[in-house]
Amino acid sequence: MPDQAENLRQFVQQHAQRARVIAVSSGKGGVGKTNTCVNLGIALAQKGARVVLLDADLGLANIEVLLGINSLYNLQHVVSGQQSMMDVVVDGPGGIQVVPGSSGIAKIADLGPNARNNVLAGLEELQRHADFILIDTMAGIGQNAVAFAIAADEVLLVTTPEPSSIVDAYATIKTVFHQRPDAQFKVIVNQVMNKQQAGAVAHKIADVTGRFLGRNVSFAGFIPRDPRVMQAVMQTSPYILRYPTAPASRAVATIASRLNETPREKRRGQGFLQRVAETFRVAKSA
Ligand SMILES: Nc1ncnc2c1ncn2[C@@H]1O[C@H](COP(=O)(O)OP(=O)(O)O)[C@@H](O)[C@H]1O
Ligand SMILES: [Mg+2]
Repeated sequence: MPDQAENLRQFVQQHAQRARVIAVSSGKGGVGKTNTCVNLGIALAQKGARVVLLDADLGLANIEVLLGINSLYNLQHVVSGQQSMMDVVVDGPGGIQVVPGSSGIAKIADLGPNARNNVLAGLEELQRHADFILIDTMAGIGQNAVAFAIAADEVLLVTTPEPSSIVDAYATIKTVFHQRPDAQFKVIVNQVMNKQQAGAVAHKIADVTGRFLGRNVSFAGFIPRDPRVMQAVMQTSPYILRYPTAPASRAVATIASRLNETPREKRRGQGFLQRVAETFRVAKSA
């Protein structure tokens, strides 16, 4: 019965579980974005989720360096069409998978038509193989930096309590909302002294965003300033694996639980891939 087969195919297509795409972003560099991305990814994997980290940051202290991964291929090979996305993915610690970065993808907004088609095909492949795709994005408000935040299902915005970090976090929020009015921001306050300090920072960001942009941001949680983080970095080992009972590890596990329990935001309209494609168009006409 071809009709039934066709109906089934359509049903499966419509209901196929696509990865939840989360951009891990920050206004300022050096706030702990990459560490948060890696350890949160592992915490989600520990809860049974299939997690892929995509390194979209040009910075020197990237995911590969942090994990001591030395890969043959990276996103540049996907951009150029030499490799498929699944050939580039490498196994990382704690059950996660990593797509090593390159300057090719970090300049996503500037890619030509062939390169962008390769990227889109690669991302589509990735979406079928994961429950969560966490994208470690570049800091700042340039188009290349915010492209993934604009396209993602959710944005985890990492900030510290430092005023400069808060101001830059707000600049990112403003830039992304300008291009994506239904963006879903969740703030993570990293390197805090205590819960009260984290609450005050989150409140400040939510207050300013509400007053000046008329939009909401929510609070994903906080990570304390913890000497184990730097120790683990020196050992090229994620702190959640090396020091599972350390305060930072417990905090990240709590954030992962909340994230895992919150269902994907129900939103009509375009998915991640369409929004990435749209990002290219915006960049071209800008
Ligand atoms: N919760 C924390 N407690 C203590 N130090 C931290 C914490 N998070 C980050 N750091 C420090 O900040 C440095 C930069 O972190 P990283 O994740 O590379 O930042 P980013 O990706 O934002 O540039 C780390 O090497 C570590 O020394
Ligand atoms: Mg980084």
